[in-house]
This record gives sequence, C-alpha cells and structure tokens, in this order.
Amino acid sequence: MPNLANYPWAVTLEAVFAAAASPGSGLQSRTPLRKIRRMKNFNRNYHTDYDLTDPELSERWGEVVSDLHARCPVAHSTTGEGYWVVNGYADVARCAKDWRTFSSADGFMVNRPEGMPYFAPAEVDPPLQRGLRAALEPFLRPKTVAALAPTVRAQAHRLIDGFCAAGTVELVSQFANPLPQFVVSSVVAGMNPAEMPYLLEAFSFVGPEAERARNFARGMVRIEAYLKERSTAPARGDIVDALLAFEHPDYHWMDKVGTLCQLTIGGIGTTGYAFSGGVYHLATHPQDRAA
Ligand code: HEM
Repeated sequence: MPNLANYPWAVTLEAVFAAAASPGSGLQSRTPLRKIRRMKNFNRNYHTDYDLTDPELSERWGEVVSDLHARCPVAHSTTGEGYWVVNGYADVARCAKDWRTFSSADGFMVNRPEGMPYFAPAEVDPPLQRGLRAALEPFLRPKTVAALAPTVRAQAHRLIDGFCAAGTVELVSQFANPLPQFVVSSVVAGMNPAEMPYLLEAFSFVGPEAERARNFARGMVRIEAYLKERSTAPARGDIVDALLAFEHPDYHWMDKVGTLCQLTIGGIGTTGYAFSGGVYHLATHPQDRAA
C-alpha cells in the first residue's frame, strides 16, 4: 500500500486541535478510561502516539482503524507540531461542517513542509470557499463530466497502448496519475497536453517531502504563465474563464493561480491514488477480481 502521507486530503481534519478533545466538545470517548487498554501488537499506541507517516499505519490500516473506531474517538499525535485525529463518521462530519471551530484557513496538512503554498478553496473558509465553489462547480457536475467519457476512454486506450507491448507497467506514473491529470488539466482546463509531464512531476506527492514545496513552486510558475496567457486570450467559456472572472475582496491573482494548482493536483493526486489503490486491491485479491 502507498504511504498515507501521500494522501494530503486524508488529513483535512488536521484542524482538529485541542478544542476537539476538550470537555464540552462532544468528542470524548464513550469508553470509561479504566477500560482503555494499550494497543497491543503494534509498533506504537495509535491512541496517544498516532503518526500519519508510520508505514505500519498503511500496512495495517484496517486493524488500526477498527481499533480506533471501537475505542478512541479522538487520537493524538506528538509528531512534529502535534495533531488530533477524529475517527468516527458522525464526529468527522460534524467537524467538517463546523468550519468556525475547525477552520481550514490555516491549511489542512499536518506538519506542513516549510514554504508550502496555501490553495483555495480547500484552505479557506466560507463565505469565500462557498463563493469560489459555486463559480467552479458548473464545470465539474456529474452531467457535464459524463459528456467527457469518450475522450477519457480514448486517452485511457492511448496510455495502455503505450505499455501493453512491454507486458509490465509502473501503474501510478504510467496510468493512474497521467489519466486524471490529462482529463482535469487538458480536457477541463484546456492546458497544452505537452505540459502534462512537467506538471505531473512538479505536483507529485510521491517524491521526497523535503523537495515538495520547491516543486510546487515551480508548478505554480507554469500555472501562472497559463493563467496570464488566458487572461488576454479570447474567452472559451470554460472553468478557467470562470476562475478569471471570480471576484472576492480576500481573493487575489495568486489565489487564482493557487486554485488552478489545486484543481491540477486534485487530478493528479487523489484520483490517481484512489485508482491505483483499487487496481492494487484487485491484483492482490483474485477472489474480488472474479466477482
Ligand atoms: C477519487 C478522487 C478524489 C478524492 C478521493 C478526493 C478527496 C477530497 C477530499 C477528502 C477533500 C476535502 C473535503 C473537505 O475538506 O470537506 C477534497 C477537496 C477538494 N478536491 Fe478532491 N478528491 C478527488 C478528486 C478531485 C479532483 C479530480 C479534483 C479536481 C478537479 C478535486 C478538487 C478538489 C478541490 C478543489 C477541493 C477543495 C474543495 C473545498 O474545500 O471546497 N478533487 N477532495
């Protein structure tokens, strides 16, 4: 399984700080303290010493999460700046909706690498977050996106044709990431397909974490150049024009660049990981493949 640290969206609730576990927050364990046993047979006690980057968490995800669900509504980590991890569905939903308490304005990443830019709409709060979403949403609706199916299929075939003769594939870099990236960046946002390998590398979550901020910065430079070009070109009526037209007193030019970066990363990252995780599961569970 890939390292969970590569799933930045998985830590959206990083903003679940001490307030979450304070009396009156409603997030306290319903298990009496005397009944909370140490987690046995694990490298660490994930209740009190959670670490998103511990490879064991990925390798034994199901076991750890089941234990946390049963016995630990809010786990704590002392890694780096320290953070809290909300585990139950209802609690997570409540925190996600209560943006005044659990604001996204400080970003969603735990132990954020130095210099990492902040991107809207994920890293801002309403009303800006809602306004920006409303501007972008018409271009990402299921019905609108369904019309892209033939183009997506054709691109999937092109990618498969590129490696099937070799009989082997590095699935993430040769298929799972380039496919959604092409769809979001090229088909939806109209960027030049020739730019894709560069952006793929710049916005990668697979490379060394220490180089991430620098890589993101060079990806942003390329995205800004594209936005500049589009701002003087004839309108196409697409998501980029909607982004260029969006106005809010707390939202400026570099925020627009950040938003287009976020859309690009959304294409490369989450979808690619969800997809490769699914294929990995099928490859290692023949019984599910047969079903
Ligand atoms: C399987 C694929 C995907 C998964 C699992 C995923 C997951 C997530 C999650 C968990 C969040 C945080 C939600 C929250 O904080 O309430 C999020 C936000 C976001 N994602 Fe995705 N995502 C995926 C695909 C994409 C794609 C393809 C794009 C780009 C077109 C995208 C763009 C965004 C944006 C812009 C936000 C911020 C929304 C906001 O805060 O209002 N995502 N995603």
